[in-house]
Amino acid sequence: MVTDSFLNHIEQLRFEINEKLQSFPLDSEPKYIYDPIKYIMDGKGKRLRPILVNLVGTVYGASKEDLLNAGLAVELLHNFTLVHDDIMDQDNLRHGKATVHKKWDESTAILAGDGIYAIAQILITKVKTNPLKAVEAFNKATLYVCEGQAYDKEFEHNHGIVLDQYLTMIKKKTGWMIGFSAELGGILGDQPASVINELQSYGLNLGIAFQIQDDILEIFSDAKSMGKSLGSDLIAGKQTILTVLARQNDEIGWKQIWDETKNRDIQVTIEKLREYFDENGILKSAKNMAKKYTEAAKNNLQIIPKEKRAQLEQLTEFVWKRKK
Ligand code: IPE
Ligand code: IPE
Ligand code: MG
Ligand code: MG
Repeated sequence: MVTDSFLNHIEQLRFEINEKLQSFPLDSEPKYIYDPIKYIMDGKGKRLRPILVNLVGTVYGASKEDLLNAGLAVELLHNFTLVHDDIMDQDNLRHGKATVHKKWDESTAILAGDGIYAIAQILITKVKTNPLKAVEAFNKATLYVCEGQAYDKEFEHNHGIVLDQYLTMIKKKTGWMIGFSAELGGILGDQPASVINELQSYGLNLGIAFQIQDDILEIFSDAKSMGKSLGSDLIAGKQTILTVLARQNDEIGWKQIWDETKNRDIQVTIEKLREYFDENGILKSAKNMAKKYTEAAKNNLQIIPKEKRAQLEQLTEFVWKRKK
């Protein structure tokens, strides 16, 4: 059960992270890079990754200062991937406002992304407990995200992609960063490799469930609630859990609906697809898949002593129930 006291706690953590990001010391010149960086730091993300670093690290008595530096590093790394992802996906809206390449232009967004990434690197080197391990894990996760993004691009418009390939892609593009956040909590809490690996698996499973949910919300939620462009996955021919399962479970029916909706207005297409995914059990299968990874994540949590597990169990539940 997700309690009010847990929700208040993560709201407080979010507040602290936002405060630190908004007051982050930055030069003001050149404006070309620092204006968009300030704009990104002002963005209203959910702060899931630093919250995860904090909750895991707190279990193992990590220092507040380490948790703060690592949390900010991970959140900035995440935002760097989002800025470049929005260029790659040609999306207009992020965190309820114009994407950086739309408000400015692509050169600005590439450079601001690079700058944010460098700041994240500087912050992660500041941790005092196991800094080398933290930096290595940081870079490994970044490389995996790049690999995941490469699959995401390679798979565009490819109707031969099957579930396993889709899962490999999302594990890398989304799972690894969330896996890294949980891993980092263990590193900062000076835990042995066996514990750190299990924490990483927890985050990976949580991250896979998170991306499956995201694919579902892309069709079943709305841009206002999500604060980002929706429907663009379809236009770009992205592989999502819904399209992959539809192709696998109902090849002929799916081809028919796909051909019918092609070149129609995106809103009309989304309406039609909602109906199709719901009536043909695709939505249900996708939700079951997210549930399966959520359960696997809960199992990984058994590595944590029982009396210290409650908050992470609630976070897992919270991610599973998320509507935005
Ligand atoms: C967005 O992640 C990118 C995905 C991995 C789906 P979040 O939903 O966690 O991003 P925020 O909260 O808007 O920053
Ligand atoms: C999520 O990419 C992963 C990264 C940003 C690295 P998506 O393209 O699937 O996520 P949204 O829908 O833009 O948030
Ligand atoms: Mg995107
Ligand atoms: Mg993308």
